[in-house]
Amino acid sequence: MNKSIRFILASAAVFMLAGAMSFAQSAGEATYKTKCQSCHGAAGIPSPAMAKAMGVKPVTDPAVKSSTAAKMIASTKNGMGKMPAFKDKLTDAQITDSVTYFRSFTK
Ligand code: HEC
Repeated sequence: MNKSIRFILASAAVFMLAGAMSFAQSAGEATYKTKCQSCHGAAGIPSPAMAKAMGVKPVTDPAVKSSTAAKMIASTKNGMGKMPAFKDKLTDAQITDSVTYFRSFTK
């Protein structure tokens, strides 16, 4: 195999990987926007009214920041406080992706 073909194949693999990764990100984002944003806010900060009515904590809250991905996935699956359980409404992948997107706001 000559060098330029090898280079083209390697570049194609990198592009495919980057594409797959950005798809995973946008999948979480799309789920978050339709299923989570109404309570948690566009960037993880609930509106004051929602925070008061539902007890939703902002991602800047120390208790949320110090939580783990596994705990958040479990809370989203099984419900927490006034948050409904999502395990019958979303797939495990959708829950994991939307939690990953939610966690990106804590950074
Ligand atoms: C009906 C409003 C509502 C919706 C919709 C909702 N949540 Fe929640 N969420 C809450 C409330 C209320 C809590 C509990 C806050 C508490 O008791 O500390 C919570 C807690 C959480 C927590 C735990 C972190 C914390 O605040 O302590 C995570 C993670 C979370 N939600 C993610 C999600 C994701 C992901 C979705 C979408 C799949 C979602 N939520 C949809 C209301 C909602």
